[in-house]
Amino acid sequence: MKDIDIHSLSADEWDELKFPRPEVQEFDRVVERAISRRGFLGGVLAFGSGAAVMGTGLLKGTTAMAQPASRFPFTPIAAQTDNTIHVPEGYEWKTLVRWGDALFSDAEGAFDPQNGVPVAMSDRVFGENTDGMELFNVDGREIIAINSEYVNPRVNLPQTGDGMPSSADEVRMLQNFQGVSVIEIAEGADGWAVVVDSPYNRRIHHNTPMTFSGPAAGHDLLKTEDDPTGMASLGTFNNCGSGRTPWGTYLTCEENFNGYFGATAEVTASRAVLDGFRRYGVNTAVEPGRYNYHGFDPRFDVAANPNEPHRAGYIVEIDPANPDATPVKHTALGRFKHENAAYAIAADGRVAVYMGDDERGEFMYRWLSRDVYVPGEDTATLLVDGELSVAVFEDDMSGRWVPLTPATTGMDAAHIAVFTRMAASRVGATTMDRPEWIAVHPNAAEAYCCLTNNSRRGVLTDAGTVRTNAGGDPMTVNAVNPRDTNNYGQIVRWRPAGGDHGADSFFWDLYVMAGNPTVAEGLQAGSANINEGNLFNSPDGMVIDSTGLIWIQTDGDDSNEGIYEGMGNNQMLAGDPVTGRIERFLTGPNGCEVTGLCWSSDRRTMFVGIQHPGDNGGDWPDHGGSLARSAVIAVKREDGGLVG
Ligand code: FEO
Ligand code: CA
Ligand code: CA
Repeated sequence: MKDIDIHSLSADEWDELKFPRPEVQEFDRVVERAISRRGFLGGVLAFGSGAAVMGTGLLKGTTAMAQPASRFPFTPIAAQTDNTIHVPEGYEWKTLVRWGDALFSDAEGAFDPQNGVPVAMSDRVFGENTDGMELFNVDGREIIAINSEYVNPRVNLPQTGDGMPSSADEVRMLQNFQGVSVIEIAEGADGWAVVVDSPYNRRIHHNTPMTFSGPAAGHDLLKTEDDPTGMASLGTFNNCGSGRTPWGTYLTCEENFNGYFGATAEVTASRAVLDGFRRYGVNTAVEPGRYNYHGFDPRFDVAANPNEPHRAGYIVEIDPANPDATPVKHTALGRFKHENAAYAIAADGRVAVYMGDDERGEFMYRWLSRDVYVPGEDTATLLVDGELSVAVFEDDMSGRWVPLTPATTGMDAAHIAVFTRMAASRVGATTMDRPEWIAVHPNAAEAYCCLTNNSRRGVLTDAGTVRTNAGGDPMTVNAVNPRDTNNYGQIVRWRPAGGDHGADSFFWDLYVMAGNPTVAEGLQAGSANINEGNLFNSPDGMVIDSTGLIWIQTDGDDSNEGIYEGMGNNQMLAGDPVTGRIERFLTGPNGCEVTGLCWSSDRRTMFVGIQHPGDNGGDWPDHGGSLARSAVIAVKREDGGLVG
C-alpha cells in the first residue's frame, strides 16, 4: 500500500484528510475524485486513505505492483466502420466456427446460405449468437464451451419473412439454436477447427434435462405439471456471459429468460408470482411476443404454467469433461438476469463468485461458499451452501456486501433464491447502470465490472419524480453511477478490504468512464484515459488475462454519428490497470457485438466471439449475400508468439 502523497493534495483534500467530514459531500467533487488520476491511476487518495482498515492481505492492488514500461504487445488500430474484422499489424484472424457449422458428421453441409439449417439438424450444429466461452484442457484435448445467447428469428427462419415461428417445429428449431455448445477443437495446418464427432461434442439447448440444487430445489415455486417434484428443469435460457470454477467446470449464465414466455389467456396466479413477473419482466399480455414459443409450446405459456419462468434465471454448472453429466442449476446463487460469473478465492480458501444483474438499476452480487476449496477434494457444496450478498456503494468510495438472509430480508431462503431482486431491494442495494461482465484480477486483489450504460439514470419524469428500476428503487445519480442519461458506460473497480475476497467491505473507484471528448464536455467527455484514439461506448464483455491486461469488449451504438462519432464498430480494447491506458486491439464487422474471450492452453491463440453480425443487414463472414453468421474467430500472432 502506498503512502499518501501529501504534496499532490489540494488544500481541500488536505483538510478532508485531516478533518474528515462525515456529511455528504458536494456531488461534483465526489465524482471528480472517483474518476481523477489520483483515484484510478495513482491510488493515492482513493485507496491510500483506506490503508489503515485494509491492512495486509494475500494480494496487493495493482497500483502497488512493479510494472514494465509498456504493457501493450501490439500497435493500436484505428476505429473502423466496414464489414470485416481488423487486428493489429503482426496479428491474423480466421473463423473457428460459425452458426450452422456441423459438430457431428450427419450435419455436414446442412447449412444453406439462403435458407439456414433444416429443423432436423438444428441441434447438431453450432448455435447462433455466440457469447461467453471458456476453454478446458481435458487429458490433453482442447474442449471449448460456448454460449449461444439468443436467436435472430429473421436470420434463422428466412422463409417466414417476419421471423415469427408458424409451427411447433419452427419453435423447436429456435430452441435448438440456443444454449451451449461443448466442442473439441484442434489446430492443424489450416488453423483451428472443430473436431467433428468428438465424443466431447455436445449441444445443450432449451429442452435439455437439468437438475436444481440449493434452497429453491423442490420448492412449490419450481413445481410444474412436467415436474411435480420441483427438482428438475428442461433447458437453459439466454446464456449470456460465462464463468468457470477452479475445479474445471463451466458456468453458463441465464440472462434475459423472461423474453421466452408469454400468455395465451388471462393469467391467474398468486400475488407473489404476479409481482415476480413484473419485477423480472415476464409478459402476461395475450400477444405473440418476441419469439411466440407459447403459441406452440405450452411450457412457455404462463397462463397454463405460471411456475415455468421460476425455473430460469440461474447460474448453471456444466461438466465439459463428461458429456453425459446432467447440468445443475444452482439456486443458491440467486435468480436474476445473470451476466457472467467470476470467481476468486478468499484468504481462507472459500470460493467467492461475483455476478451482475444486467438491467437498468439492478444490482451486483457476491456468492461466498461455506466450505473451503481444496484441489482434488469434494467440491459438491461450494455452489450450494454459503451466503449470497448484494453490493452497496457509498459516495465516499467505500462499499460493503450485505447478506441476503431471512434475518436481513424477512424472506425465507427459497424465496430469496427465486425472487432475489426483491430480497436485494429490501436491504437497500445500490441501483447500478446495468452490470455486465465482472473480471477478477488473477494477480492482484481487485475486480472490475462493466456498467454498460443507463439512458434513464437520474432523469426526471414529467411528474417530477426520479426514474426507478422495476422494483421502484430510485436511480438517482451517485458517485459510482455519476451520469444523468448515461449513454457511454463506465467500469467500476473494487478492492476487497485486507485484499481478501471474503471480506464484507471494499474500496472502489472508476477505472474508466467512457465518453467522447471530441464532441462533449464535462462528464460526457469521459475520464482522462479516454482520448481521440481509443473512443468506445458500452463496455460489456471483460476478461483479465494472466499477464494482468484487461480486455474490454463493447456492445454499443456503432452508428459512428453524433455523440458516438469516432467510435466506429463494436470492438475489443486492452487496458492497463496500473496506468489506466486503454488501446484498441480489434474491431468487428458493422452491426456486430464483440463478446466472449478465451485462450488456447498454450496462449498462442485468442478466441473472440462475434455476435449478431447481420444486425445492420450485413452478410459477414461468408459475404456474397449469404445469411449473416455469428462466429468465434481465432486470433494469432504471425510470429507464433503468445497473445496477450
Ligand atoms: Fe447478454 Fe447483458 O448481455
Ligand atoms: Ca453482454
Ligand atoms: Ca450489452
